[in-house]
Amino acid sequence: MDTIKLNNGIEMPILGYGVFQVSPEECERCVLDAISTGYRLIDTAQAYYNEEGVGNAVAKCGVPRDQLFLTTKVWITNAGEEKAARSIEDSLRKLRTDYIDILLIHQPFSDYPGTWRAMEKAVKDGKVRAIGLSNFYPDRFVDMAEYANIKPAVNQLKTNVFSQQWEAEAEMEPYGTRIMAWGPLAQGSEDLQNNPVLTALAGKYDKTVQQIALRYLVQRNIIAIPKSTRIERMKQNLDIFDFCLSAEDMEKIRPLDKPADFHWSHRDPELVKFLLNYDKQFNPDNQ
Ligand SMILES: NC(=O)c1ccc[n+]([C@@H]2O[C@H](COP(=O)([O-])OP(=O)(O)OC[C@H]3O[C@@H](n4cnc5c(N)ncnc54)[C@H](OP(=O)(O)O)[C@@H]3O)[C@@H](O)[C@H]2O)c1
Repeated sequence: MDTIKLNNGIEMPILGYGVFQVSPEECERCVLDAISTGYRLIDTAQAYYNEEGVGNAVAKCGVPRDQLFLTTKVWITNAGEEKAARSIEDSLRKLRTDYIDILLIHQPFSDYPGTWRAMEKAVKDGKVRAIGLSNFYPDRFVDMAEYANIKPAVNQLKTNVFSQQWEAEAEMEPYGTRIMAWGPLAQGSEDLQNNPVLTALAGKYDKTVQQIALRYLVQRNIIAIPKSTRIERMKQNLDIFDFCLSAEDMEKIRPLDKPADFHWSHRDPELVKFLLNYDKQFNPDNQ
């Protein structure tokens, strides 16, 4: 597995396994499958309600903890210094571990500076090795990165062949912050499967369009965390280190990037309201 060095010197796998929308019941089996396939980076979040499943798999998998790399994220309803600190303890307990490898602020809403202070303290206390952000688009990213004592190691953004995040990458570069791609397979969209440029490249390299899409990201030094509940797809998504896209073929993919207004936006007030209320469906205590 190729690794990438973060701005605090820590090395992390460049490809991992994400568990968004993997049910709590299925999560343990999926993560065990992923680890047996060779994944070492596992990405979860408080708002996925499956940290226990990840923790059970970590406890059972037989791979030493220091060879695994765990990511989780503080949700909006746990924002603020005290609540975030408590939620970190909760995540540690559910993940059945003494430390989290990278902890992220999931969304750029509510008291996220307070959350960051709790995360910086967790680093000092040895409970977290690296901290970062998620969905902080350039304006909020720069605000947060300037405020932070510990500069964000990563910013997890929707990044794939249709959403290439060149502007975000440029804004993050001075802080040494890496892009970590969520939705690296465009969340399973037909547009990806049927795209003629990707289909042609898949034929040329004898790979699938999904492998081409993931390879494009890792060749840009972007960390990617594809999700699948199927072991054969987990294997396929990991099998991207035996070929290299030529510079010319990388350039063929670049025009697939779509303008920002094509995608739903974290700057849209309706999306902000939706996310602020998101976990009420799972957690009636937050009504
Ligand atoms: N920070 C955030 O706000 C945020 C948001 C979303 C996601 N994430 C993280 O990023 C991870 C990945 O993003 P995502 O799950 O939204 O989307 P994704 O990984 O881009 O796509 C997942 C979809 O692609 C399908 N798929 C996977 N491998 C495939 C293959 N080889 N061939 C064909 N189809 C394939 C999966 O179906 P099957 O499962 O049926 O195979 C699923 O429907 C998440 O799991 C989560 O950890 C973070």
